[in-house]
Amino acid sequence: MNHVSVDLVDRRPVMTGELLPPGAMRFDGKVVLVFGGGSDSDGVPSNGSAAAVAYAREGARVIVVDRIEANAAHTVANIRSEGGDAASACADVTSEGDVMAVVEDAKSFTGRIDVLHNNVGSTLMGLPPDLTLADWNKSMATNLGSVFLTCKYVLPVMASQRSGAIVNISSLASLRDTGYPYPAYSASKSAVNQLTVTLALQYARHGIRVNAVAPGFIDSALIYREISSQYSSPEAMRRAREERSPTGRMGTPWDVANASLFLASDAAQFINGVVLPVDGGQHMRSL
Ligand SMILES: NC(=O)c1ccc[n+]([C@@H]2O[C@H](COP(=O)([O-])OP(=O)(O)OC[C@H]3O[C@@H](n4cnc5c(N)ncnc54)[C@H](O)[C@@H]3O)[C@@H](O)[C@H]2O)c1
Repeated sequence: MNHVSVDLVDRRPVMTGELLPPGAMRFDGKVVLVFGGGSDSDGVPSNGSAAAVAYAREGARVIVVDRIEANAAHTVANIRSEGGDAASACADVTSEGDVMAVVEDAKSFTGRIDVLHNNVGSTLMGLPPDLTLADWNKSMATNLGSVFLTCKYVLPVMASQRSGAIVNISSLASLRDTGYPYPAYSASKSAVNQLTVTLALQYARHGIRVNAVAPGFIDSALIYREISSQYSSPEAMRRAREERSPTGRMGTPWDVANASLFLASDAAQFINGVVLPVDGGQHMRSL
């Protein structure tokens, strides 16, 4: 049967290493695969590109995967301009063939995969009467199916190494209402959280940790494309999101990247199956 049976493999506890000395690069010698790591702009970065750059700044060899070749190339160029190590790959995370091919290439190119970072996600505004079934299914495939597919192909690689960390980018919308009419988005991101928990527990004895980050209101390029339609202008959107944030500001893609790197690093080696809000405390606040 072609499935990973947790019961048939080595179930001894995985021993952990010493922490790195202060100032050491946390991802030196590690291979990090960032799905949705591209960016189309030099202005407001995407969450994915900020994460890719941040891993590279800490010594990782980063493979930036994006369905738009130019976006992946853009992030890779930024990383290389800082002296970092990165390569680009073109794949749509909703295509099983694409994901399988990218993981296979990454494995043969680098010999291992230490971190899988799942950044791809897209909001879809609309209540059920406004949506087609195809819209709904596409949203599920993008936000949830993508995590299933990347994990399907990366987990066996990590299991054979007996080490690895997975970070899934969820959303505050998975934990609570954010006021936007996007049930496909919130439902799919909630499912990402529970997929994260299940995989975390099933693979803990394989030396693999799986965690999620739930960003709140982040000032990334995505909101100008996908959220601003809910406001009279982009400026009105910015003001409203800043006002609703307990800190008085939106987060930045770097805030999301910093939390992700912590969860992927050995500093978090006893942290598994959490969904970490990165939202300035918004998840604790009433609307
Ligand atoms: N900005 C926010 O306020 C906010 C809040 C909560 C969660 N998030 C989450 O952050 C993540 C995205 O943030 P971002 O700023 O990087 O977004 P983004 O839309 O800029 O996407 C980054 C990259 O992903 C690529 N991509 C999109 N669909 C793809 C696909 N099917 N296959 C491969 N690549 C694909 C895009 O081409 C782009 O280069 C999502 O998971 C989103 O749900 C954002």
